[in-house]
Amino acid sequence: MPKPKVLATHGLFEAARQILQETCEMEYWAKPERPPREEVLRRVKDKEGLICLLTEKINEELLSVAPKLRIAANVAVGFDNIDVAACTKRGVVATNTPGVLDETTADFAWTLLMAVARRLSEGEELARSGKWKNWDLDQLVGTDVWGKTLGIVGFGRIGRAVARRASGFQMKVIYTDAQRAPAEVERALKAEFWEMNALLAESDFISLHVPLLPETRRLFDAPKFKRMKPTAFLINTSRGPVVDEAALVAALEGGQIAGAGLDVYENEPFIHPGLKRANVVLAPHIASASLETRTKMACIAANNVVALFAGQKPPNILNPEVLKAS
Ligand code: GLV
Repeated sequence: MPKPKVLATHGLFEAARQILQETCEMEYWAKPERPPREEVLRRVKDKEGLICLLTEKINEELLSVAPKLRIAANVAVGFDNIDVAACTKRGVVATNTPGVLDETTADFAWTLLMAVARRLSEGEELARSGKWKNWDLDQLVGTDVWGKTLGIVGFGRIGRAVARRASGFQMKVIYTDAQRAPAEVERALKAEFWEMNALLAESDFISLHVPLLPETRRLFDAPKFKRMKPTAFLINTSRGPVVDEAALVAALEGGQIAGAGLDVYENEPFIHPGLKRANVVLAPHIASASLETRTKMACIAANNVVALFAGQKPPNILNPEVLKAS
């Protein structure tokens, strides 16, 4: 039996390549830059499997040129780049990589939180520039993290991992979510469920951990920023479009909030010029980017592909109805 042809739009990592090599005929896009769209569309035409990054849109345009495609395996937990309904309609399995990046992403939300509170970017710039003249009592004074109130918006795996880290900083943790967490989770994390508006008014730091869905698009807009404390900071490691970027810029310019730590943007890799300010720490969508975690993500995507072609249900299938129908 010929091996199924699979396109990976990235070189992945050796560990993932090993998982795939036995059972799949692999084609890797291994150049450092992302493949142009035309190239993906050209290469996917004869493929039965696709391993893709969140920069590739898996939509009707792509599915219509890939009639043999049976699986689109995202190397990401977020899958807003995949039109799952269109995949289902065409009998294509879609998968993601949940579970392995929660702690790493939570670490990074804290990295941004600490960096913006303590003005690390400004401090580093001064230290590197050679312009640092002397220690001074009021030089780059930031704001304390410890003892403050952390508001978590979206209390899934990552939101909870962020909450878990707060106890070391003696913080009060409040959260909001479409669904309240079980009482034992709230107890273990010492987290209180609050309504959104109350959370906005109370929090010193607000960290976003919702998936991008129609109902979370621009969830953080001008009225929300108005409700926040002028001393509060917004941290976003979820998805850029969860925040109305123009409204965030206006809130920062107008002093409605104190600053922001951002890893994600509305139109990546474009960053709104109004965000390039001293009180905003900017990162290029790297919250899950530890070697350990990114390797695990690639392996999970590889295992999803291998499982499907072995006649099994991929562990992280997003549209199981595809397999029930066949
Ligand atoms: C990264 O942003 C992911 O969704 O895994």
